[in-house]
Formats: sequence, C-alpha cells, structure tokens
Amino acid sequence: ATSRTAIIAGNWKMNLGPQQASSFAREILPALGDIIRHNSSLMSILCPPSISLASVHKVMEAMPTPGVELGAQNMYYEDKGAFTGEIAPGMLKELCTTVILGHSERRTYFGENDELVNKKTLAAFAYGLRPIVCVGENTDQYESGETQSVIKTQIQQSLAGLSGEQASQIVIAYEPIWAIGTGKAATAKGAGEVIHFIRHTYASIYGESAAQAIRILYGGSVTSANISEFMAHPDIDGGLIGGASIKHDFVEIVRTTA
Ligand code: G3P
Repeated sequence: ATSRTAIIAGNWKMNLGPQQASSFAREILPALGDIIRHNSSLMSILCPPSISLASVHKVMEAMPTPGVELGAQNMYYEDKGAFTGEIAPGMLKELCTTVILGHSERRTYFGENDELVNKKTLAAFAYGLRPIVCVGENTDQYESGETQSVIKTQIQQSLAGLSGEQASQIVIAYEPIWAIGTGKAATAKGAGEVIHFIRHTYASIYGESAAQAIRILYGGSVTSANISEFMAHPDIDGGLIGGASIKHDFVEIVRTTA
C-alpha cells in the first residue's frame, strides 16, 4: 500500500535444531526465492533459534536467495566477556542482518524490560544489525482499555536515544499478547488502529519522515488465510509469523503477500 518494502519474518521460536532447521530452509528457500524474485517490494527474514543460525546460514550460502535474510531472536548488548550463555551483537553480525528484540516471551518469561530492550536496540544498530523491536499489550491491559498507554510507554522507552538515521531504519512489530499462539488473531482494523497509533507516537519522537519510513509489522496468529486482510491496511507493512513460520504455510503467506 506504500513505498515501504514489506517484510514477512518468521520467528521459529524454540523449534528446529541445526539439522531440522537446515532441512526446512532447504525446503522453503527455492519457493521463497521464486516469489520474491518477481516482487521487489517484499522481503522475508528467517529467524531460527541461535544454535541453528550457522546451519541455516550455510544453506543460504549454498542457495543464494536475494530478498531472503537471516535473523536472530535475541542477543545481549555487551561486546564480549563474562556473560555466560549470552550471544554478542558482533557474533550475530557474522551470520545475520536482523535481530528480534523485546519479544513478549522474552519480556514475560525472562524478565526483559524496556530499559534492557533499549540497550539491545542501540547495540544492534552499533553493529549494523536491523532490530525488529516488539511491543504489545497483554490480555488484562487489552480488556481494561490500556492498550495505547502501554504501547506508548514501550515505544518511548524501548526506542529512546536513536540517531536520526537509526530512527528511520527500525522495524517495529506489534504483537498483542492475547493474539500470540492462540489462533485468535486481532482484526486487521484493530491491529491497523494500534499500528497507526504507533506510527503517530513514533512521529512525535522522531518526526514525521522517520515515522513514514519505518516498517511496522503485525504479529499474532497470522496465517495464509488472514495475511491479506492485514496487508490491506495502509499502516501495516508486514507480518511477524510464529507458529505458521515453521510450516509450509510460511511460503503461502509470502506468496499471498507478493
Ligand atoms: O513473533 C511471532 C509471534 O509471537 C506470533 O506467534 O504463533 O501467534 O504466529 P504466532
């Protein structure tokens, strides 16, 4: 609907180890490549678990697929050092273009807050990684009508301190927690309204031209059956796909979007 290149990203979550991940990548890349080759206004990003990044990267090197990139699901913000179990931005940069940050599962199960997400976002930019920063309200907040205030705080705090150039490069994913993995997707109208609000809030911080440049994705129970409704909304620039991203339906989602 706009000049912004749409993004269909697959968040594989904690599924598909190195071997399964490379077989799945080998299975879907040719089809993704065929679709995207004919559509320069669409790109796709595969985000396997970090332990599978290297094996998927190897497949992508063997099967070069312009328009399909590799992303991680999380990282730490320090350069290196004594942070057992963590992965540094520079390490991801060897394999990935993109990193998902502040996913609600990280916020809920691993105690990530806006301050930490902000540090990670700035670190991603410092290393030339494209952050996809996730925001979204939970069921209680949704039901009590707090969606906009929750989102506003997440945007202000998670995305503080960006330079002008960074401000126009970020990708935001709006994922209402009640819609994640529930089969109960938001309506395109509802998601579109929140995403419009996100763009408006972002404009008040970084200006209208940055706000018009950034991609804002919807995530939460997206499938090939509902993606076109979301894409029809002028403010929605793509999808962050969970469950359907590790099935053949991911190819159908990309095909429907193209
Ligand atoms: O990051 C994507 C996600 O949280 C949505 O998951 O399974 O509802 O598509 P799902």
